[in-house]
Amino acid sequence: MKSVVSYPDRGKWGKNSWRGNTSGYIIKDLIEHFKPSLFVDVCEGSGTSGDVCREMGVEYIGLDLYKGQDFTKDYILSFLPRPADICFSHPPYHSMIRYSGSVWGKCPVEGDTSHCKSVDEFLEKSQVMLLNQREATKDGGIYTTLIGDMRKNGSYRSFQADFIGMMPKNELLNVVIKVQHNMMSNKTHYSGKFIPIVHEYLLIWRKSAKSLFAIAWDTAKEIKRQVASTWRSAIRIALMKLGGQASLQEIYREVENIAQHLISKNRNWRAKIRQQLQYHFRNVQRGVWAM
Ligand SMILES: C[S@@+](CC[C@H](N)C(=O)[O-])C[C@H]1O[C@@H](n2cnc3c(N)ncnc32)[C@H](O)[C@@H]1O
Repeated sequence: MKSVVSYPDRGKWGKNSWRGNTSGYIIKDLIEHFKPSLFVDVCEGSGTSGDVCREMGVEYIGLDLYKGQDFTKDYILSFLPRPADICFSHPPYHSMIRYSGSVWGKCPVEGDTSHCKSVDEFLEKSQVMLLNQREATKDGGIYTTLIGDMRKNGSYRSFQADFIGMMPKNELLNVVIKVQHNMMSNKTHYSGKFIPIVHEYLLIWRKSAKSLFAIAWDTAKEIKRQVASTWRSAIRIALMKLGGQASLQEIYREVENIAQHLISKNRNWRAKIRQQLQYHFRNVQRGVWAM
């Protein structure tokens, strides 16, 4: 594998009828390069990576929202027999292709990041996905995502730059540019005002042996205001770690670990957490909150 890859033929794996599917050759290259014994795909779509893993004799676990696993809510590690050698994602590129209600299912499903109402919401949930992937990866293992940039209504948004900014700088191992072929948008003729996007990125991180909470704190420091709702991310990650539901006291304790820099700037941080819980989470019983 080199830092630019191009596979004109997508190969026999997965289904090209699943919109936004990827070529199996990139999975094959990842496996040949890193030689994992357990490969996990957290948004497997048509099952491209599973087909490649079976052919190459690599143990595989595939998750997806349409199968009932939501990377914004469910703790990925809880679906695995052990932490992954490679934890891969190929998420929606915001609203470029809508999944639930279009590619599968009859209507939009909560958690589907192709239905986020804003870029900030998409980035916040994508950060939870990346931290969740990281948590599901063994120390020294690889967590990686395939993501494209987006141009909508004339403005350009570099999700790859956002994603890199959200995660610990010292864990970034490689950025691979993947040329895109046979996209529907390739067949569109533009008026010549802007340059069509015909590439996407494989971002590869290697997990150092640091706890999620230490990383989340570093990350929160790094991203500052890049993700508008960092408090919300901190609470979401805390709740995920606590099994999706927890008492206020447990949430305070976990958020205290995750978001020290936010807490140090806000003397009323407990009130802030209660306010965020009321806005964005469910009160399931007195003093108990859920995702
Ligand atoms: C780009 S497609 C993956 C395509 C796949 N790599 C293939 O080759 O067929 C993105 C997938 O992310 C899934 N997805 C969206 N939101 C999700 C969530 N919150 N948790 C898990 N999967 C999600 C969608 O259902 C969709 O199958």
